[in-house]
Amino acid sequence: MWEYTEKLKEHFFNPRNVGEVEEPDGVGEVGSLACGDALKLTFKLDEAGKIKDAKFKTFGCASAIATSSVLTEMIKGKTIDEAAKVTNKDIADYLGGLPEQKMHCSVMGREALEAAIENYRTGGRKKRELEGKVVCTCFGVTEKEIERVITENNLTTVEEVTNYCKAGGGCGGCHGEIEKILERLQPDKAKEISAKAPPKGRKLTNIQKIQLIQQTINEQIRPALRADGGNIELIDVEANKVIVAFRGMCAQCKLAEFTMKDVVEAKLREFVCDELFVEEDKDSEQQQHKHSG
Ligand code: FES
Repeated sequence: MWEYTEKLKEHFFNPRNVGEVEEPDGVGEVGSLACGDALKLTFKLDEAGKIKDAKFKTFGCASAIATSSVLTEMIKGKTIDEAAKVTNKDIADYLGGLPEQKMHCSVMGREALEAAIENYRTGGRKKRELEGKVVCTCFGVTEKEIERVITENNLTTVEEVTNYCKAGGGCGGCHGEIEKILERLQPDKAKEISAKAPPKGRKLTNIQKIQLIQQTINEQIRPALRADGGNIELIDVEANKVIVAFRGMCAQCKLAEFTMKDVVEAKLREFVCDELFVEEDKDSEQQQHKHSG
């Protein structure tokens, strides 16, 4: 499973500052339960304008709890201007690092802090709204947010963007647009990466095809599903039919069909061969339901 630092585990088992500050000066709410995690951050200032109390409520994984907990510790004692400078990287560094697939939790923390500061600066009138064009409709992520995680964290692949802000982790329909943003912001690196991509269109033996399918699942597909607590298993390959089974959360998720059809199929076509199509192994899904129910 995930490699968590001792500090992260400690904050997960003993989260600090859980709850809501009474009569807060700033309130920031981000994420949504439908997308798997949500965070509400509240803070109160002292007379000198420093944050004297900060609390959080979150619905999310161990990393979401730990990042929210350290965030409240980090901002206590800071002025608003100082707190506004905290980046998602600062939050992850404070924890001694986060698994790559969990970096979106640190971004959620930074967004909640910004929303709370904005709410304070506008006298409690302004709640966070999505600014600019929404690129990933599955997770409601805008072009601006994607640009920001790319430049602040020096990202070069769609998979990394998914790890940092979830964009691209659902149906996969936005991958083309995320790639264009990457090419615009990181033109040299994007070129290097596509040069390393396996050449498509060559004739593969059956063994090579199956190996490449497995490699694509391991490197391109599984990380995105794991970010949401799910997993995928390759069951069989019959000519161009790839049979897979979803495990964990993905097996029950209502997005499973989109995920399967769009992300898995699109990735396999991109990296292996245009003619592949994907089917879900219903028998193994039913067995899993029996086990879990
Ligand atoms: S639109 Fe981005 S994953 Fe579906």
